Amino acid sequence: MTDVLVVNGPNLGRLGSREPEKYGSTTESELAGLVREWGAALALQATLRQSDSETDLVRWMHECVDAGTHVVLNPAAFTHYSYALRDACALVTREGLALIEVHLTNPHAREEFRHTSVISGVATGTIAGLGVEGYHLALRAVAARVG
Ligand code: DQA
Repeated sequence: MTDVLVVNGPNLGRLGSREPEKYGSTTESELAGLVREWGAALALQATLRQSDSETDLVRWMHECVDAGTHVVLNPAAFTHYSYALRDACALVTREGLALIEVHLTNPHAREEFRHTSVISGVATGTIAGLGVEGYHLALRAVAARVG
């Protein structure tokens, strides 16, 4: 089975209760179950992790490089300003691994500061505005690349 680490950044641990009109009603633990199920159906071993800490996210990208693990990443607010996370993501894609950037909402339809992603330029691709289905589509993209 091909490993995929699905990473959610800051404040996404509050999924389900955080502004549900924007981010939906699926909780983090429900999303973890969906990610596992969707992954298994695609012959992927997909695991969800969440952290509010940039340090954790950078370290997890390094671990993925070392282990040859593909990444699905919702960088949350770090999307817009974390050059440290961008540089860590660049290491993943330079290694030939997939890194699919996912956003539940469409940042381009929101406040101006959300229109910039410092991650997109080093990602394999970006999926935005489709809610939790975006994670499913990202896993399908990884499966298509490894298949
Ligand atoms: C988000 C969009 C970001 O602008 C925001 O800071 C988030 C979530 C999304 O999934 O739509 O926390 O990445």
